[in-house]
Amino acid sequence: MGYPKVTVVGAGQVGATAAQLLLLHDVADVVMIDVAEGLPQGKALDLMHLRSIERFEPTIVGTNDYADTAGSDVVVITAGLPRKPGMTRDDLLAANSAIMRSVIAQASQASPDAVFVCVTNPLDIMTYLAWKESGLPSQRVIGMGGVLDSARFAYAIASKTGAPISEIEALAMGAHGDAMVPMPRFSTVNGVPITQLLDQSDVEALVERTIFGGAEVVALLKTGSAFYAPAGSIVAMVRSIIGDTGDTHPSCVYLDGQYGIEDVYLSVPARLGRGGVEDIPVMPLDDDELDALQASAQTVAQAVDSLGLRG
Ligand code: APR
Repeated sequence: MGYPKVTVVGAGQVGATAAQLLLLHDVADVVMIDVAEGLPQGKALDLMHLRSIERFEPTIVGTNDYADTAGSDVVVITAGLPRKPGMTRDDLLAANSAIMRSVIAQASQASPDAVFVCVTNPLDIMTYLAWKESGLPSQRVIGMGGVLDSARFAYAIASKTGAPISEIEALAMGAHGDAMVPMPRFSTVNGVPITQLLDQSDVEALVERTIFGGAEVVALLKTGSAFYAPAGSIVAMVRSIIGDTGDTHPSCVYLDGQYGIEDVYLSVPARLGRGGVEDIPVMPLDDDELDALQASAQTVAQAVDSLGLRG
């Protein structure tokens, strides 16, 4: 049986966990590539040993050679350094820019028809960089930020209200970082916006917890950053792409005038399918929400400008 082919670049915490979920959910055959020799091969072999226990059919290959990634349907890029305690995502900018440039050049040459899902931080900047360097249509270069941020918002709401997670819909938009814009009016428990269920101070506390959810994990782990929820977020997006579902996910996409934002990659709800971004249905934001989103875009634009990439 032929499965789609997904390459995961970076066999670290996020990449290997995403690969495991892709296999367990029967999504795709996986190629995992890393600069570290033996690491992707060893983890791939371990996952192949898991096959007979978990009874999944897709296979995984570990490699250091982009030739093995050729013709992938989706390429997920997790290569890079993760945050250490006290580091912001932007501290990673210089180191991860160099890694992203080298990865996207090789990966896009091997798989020119793939959809590329960037995960490396600082996410919105790295996704812009990947798009620019690849020369690909912007629809086929996207980033994983909003799905994770929205999941963290949902967790915060569940913790506060005690509601089952299945009854919660949460939305966070904007930059994947301190300039994130959780959207309380569009975040509901059983369809009721949390702005109608909770005091304003409680809502503000949940927003704060969401924005610093990643940092909370980093502070606890002390070495490295979150990977279970990031990996699940990647796989949710990849499943919609591979399955051509057109499902809406808050995704880091190229904005070309939507929300009054030009030439910036930022997380907003987007329909994902085989061609990558199929549509960006614009949310009916009020003036304050729009201002917050535009301010978030501004911080990303400045960072991208510092790399001399825009325009
Ligand atoms: N090509 C391929 N792999 C690379 C390269 C490169 N040029 N440079 C580094 N790597 C690999 C490392 O060898 C390592 O195995 O990327 C992997 C990163 O794994 P971890 O250090 O475990 O980091 P992880 O927690 O997976 O985070 C990866 O995702 O969420 C973001 O901020 C996070 O940018 C970070 C990325």
